Amino acid sequence: MRRLRRTEALRRLVRETNVDPARLIWPLFVKLGGEAEPIASMPGVLRHPVAAADQLAHRARELGLGGVLLFGIPDEKDERATQAYAPDGVVQHAVRAMKDAVPELTVITDVCLCEYTSHGHCGVVVDGDVDNDRTLPLLVETAVSHAHAGADIVAPSDMMDGRVGAIRDGLDREGFQDVAIMAYAAKYASAFYGPFRDAAGSAPEFGDRRSYQMDPPNRREAMREIELDVREGADIIMVKPGMPYLDVILEARRRFDLPLAVYQVSGEYTMIQLAAQAGALDGKLAMAEAVTSIHRAGADIVITYAAPDLAG
Ligand code: PBG
Repeated sequence: MRRLRRTEALRRLVRETNVDPARLIWPLFVKLGGEAEPIASMPGVLRHPVAAADQLAHRARELGLGGVLLFGIPDEKDERATQAYAPDGVVQHAVRAMKDAVPELTVITDVCLCEYTSHGHCGVVVDGDVDNDRTLPLLVETAVSHAHAGADIVAPSDMMDGRVGAIRDGLDREGFQDVAIMAYAAKYASAFYGPFRDAAGSAPEFGDRRSYQMDPPNRREAMREIELDVREGADIIMVKPGMPYLDVILEARRRFDLPLAVYQVSGEYTMIQLAAQAGALDGKLAMAEAVTSIHRAGADIVITYAAPDLAG
């Protein structure tokens, strides 16, 4: 076996999996005003002001990235997540600025309410739990407002039942037949989202997300979740998180023919960064290996905070 491992040129010749910047998506946190600020729990990741959106769009294009995925940090939160679907909300602003600056850049928006609700849950809370069907119209309104701003793809991450179908209908009704849906289809209730919730200020005030996000031990159930989203009109399916769920990715790749995206989430990113800072491993190599593993398991697209570093 060692004959083809002798030189880097030979190894490249027989390499089965490559990381291509065009298949990486860069998640970005945007806020309305102020300066860019570091996020304590995510070394190297910033909260960017909307005013920097055009520069970020240029940077993504120069690096040849597959797209950006926007998360908004609003100034105000309330029970009904009004800022999620406000026409002049933070994400709507950022989308417009990015598409104005670089029209050919693929701009994807996260469609969820947790960054915008005062209680931090992903929907409307009734009697202490998220009410599925009262949440759907707000998600539709959010997705439609992102489409109005110019989003190419909307990515619902809330895990309400029936939201992909509702969003597809809503987009079509408003004339946005060309806006695609990347569905967070198999999204687990994961401890690895910890740093994100610090970054976006979206930790739930009470309880947890286990009544809507998936139970980590379940793989067959993930296939049912994906199947439903495909039937409801998803264009791209997603498994999230990545590295702790490689078996789910492999199984999804075998069963479904749609493009498969995988989210290497904040906790996966931060673990590698902190280990590197502590001198325990080579952060660049470890990150490249982690993202390659996710591709090798079957992901077509990887969403990663390390996208600019990897592309560079
Ligand atoms: C919104 C959302 C979350 C993430 C993406 N969209 C947080 C959550 O579900 O609590 C997590 C991303 C990450 O950890 O990098 N619902």
